[in-house]
Amino acid sequence: VPEIGCLSIIVLGASGDLAKKKTFPALFHLYCQGFLPPNEVHIFGYARTKISDDELRNRISGYLVSERSASPSKDVSKFLQLIKYVSGSYDAAEGFQTLDKEISKHETSKNSLEGSSRRLFYLALPPSVYPSVCRMIRRYCMNKSNLGGWTRIVVEKPFGRDLGSAEELSSQIGKLFDEPQIYRIDHYLGKELVQNLLVLRFANRFFLPLWNRDNIDNVQIVFREDFGTEGRGGYFDEYGIIRDIIQNHLLQVLCLVAMEKPVSLKPEHIRDEKVKVLQSVLPIKDEEVVLGQYEGYRDDPTVPDHSNTPTFATVILRIHNERWEVPFILKAGKALNSRKAEIRVQFKDVPGDIFKCKKQGRNEFVIRLQPSEAMYMKLMVKQPGLEMSTVQSELDLSYRQRYQGVTIPEAYERLILDTIRGDQQHFVRRDELKAAWEIFTPLLHRIDNGEMNPIPYQAGSRGPAEADELLEKAGYVQTHGY
Ligand code: BG6
Repeated sequence: VPEIGCLSIIVLGASGDLAKKKTFPALFHLYCQGFLPPNEVHIFGYARTKISDDELRNRISGYLVSERSASPSKDVSKFLQLIKYVSGSYDAAEGFQTLDKEISKHETSKNSLEGSSRRLFYLALPPSVYPSVCRMIRRYCMNKSNLGGWTRIVVEKPFGRDLGSAEELSSQIGKLFDEPQIYRIDHYLGKELVQNLLVLRFANRFFLPLWNRDNIDNVQIVFREDFGTEGRGGYFDEYGIIRDIIQNHLLQVLCLVAMEKPVSLKPEHIRDEKVKVLQSVLPIKDEEVVLGQYEGYRDDPTVPDHSNTPTFATVILRIHNERWEVPFILKAGKALNSRKAEIRVQFKDVPGDIFKCKKQGRNEFVIRLQPSEAMYMKLMVKQPGLEMSTVQSELDLSYRQRYQGVTIPEAYERLILDTIRGDQQHFVRRDELKAAWEIFTPLLHRIDNGEMNPIPYQAGSRGPAEADELLEKAGYVQTHGY
């Protein structure tokens, strides 16, 4: 049943990078598709900077239209008119009292209080201010309509630096909001092909008997970027590639690849299965980790001269349960030779191979999350012609070809819509987050203490050669074109 009444979306940290580049553009696209009807919705920006409504509108207007939006400029200006700006600090009552007044004013002006009042607070902020901001929201800005509605908060990563700090943050926020009110965003869970994993695995007979250690040799989950930390060196150096990409994005993907079939599609059923995967991961062994740092990283003036922060990491995880115990190789790097995120499921060799085709490569199922979403299966076929020889080929489902004219929504767009609809399926639950930190905290502490150091690699390369060696040791067989 669609909810009626006012919807106020409050973007805290409105003048920051995330809000400008991701949150407002996602809201704009939702608006253009009719999900944010102007007679119900108002958007508020909140930040410390003292600027006017128009100044905020000017700052974000250049980021709204992307290649995928065919929106004419009149949509842009109508959308911008929905936005109001309030300035204030993140830990003092005054700003939040003003914000509450503005929201209430809008709720009354929309004359929709026959309905409920819905307040969505999007914290596009560093986690250091989450507790104080949550306290202020709780104290001054909650939904007050006695006709129902809700107050929800959306938080971004990095949610803590390790197990201890994440748990501390969770318990502080947990005292102020109930779990169903908290939406922890991991934007990888909003990507089309990540969302497709459940369908792929549990709606296809093909995969059911094959998806286990009897048939699968190893799984790779890879993230590569062909640019460095430009402009974000200060943030990045504090966190490093494991906290930035692996502990969250790649681990979430691993859960969906490895989990058992949930009882139903209810968010709690899905998240229960993901937690079980995380809790089954064995401690990481030092010899199954390769860290790297690209040459030139420390030239960034915001990066300390002696930084040992990894910008590249390959880490092998092993899931200790009946289905798995095969290596899950998680690999992420900045300033590499390409930009790509993919899952590669590599199958074992065919027993009693009469074609002697082993050298040509193995069966491999590849899910390319980006760019150009695709799934393809590498398999052996007879080389067309008179000879009886084999060649590796592909069964290819390229989304651009197969779904011409279909626009694939941006991850943030989908996830924000879920928060409005109250669907937590694609958000990280507190126990899931804890289990994710449990896996990586010992390794992160060793790196932080300088006990493990990154190997230098050339920007624009594949990363340290040691990472390829580790891959081979884990059983991965290089296939043509990879
Ligand atoms: C962010 C990281 O979470 O994800 C960035 O902080 C990274 O360092 C980005 O560039 C990658 O996201 P996407 O959607 O471009 O793969």
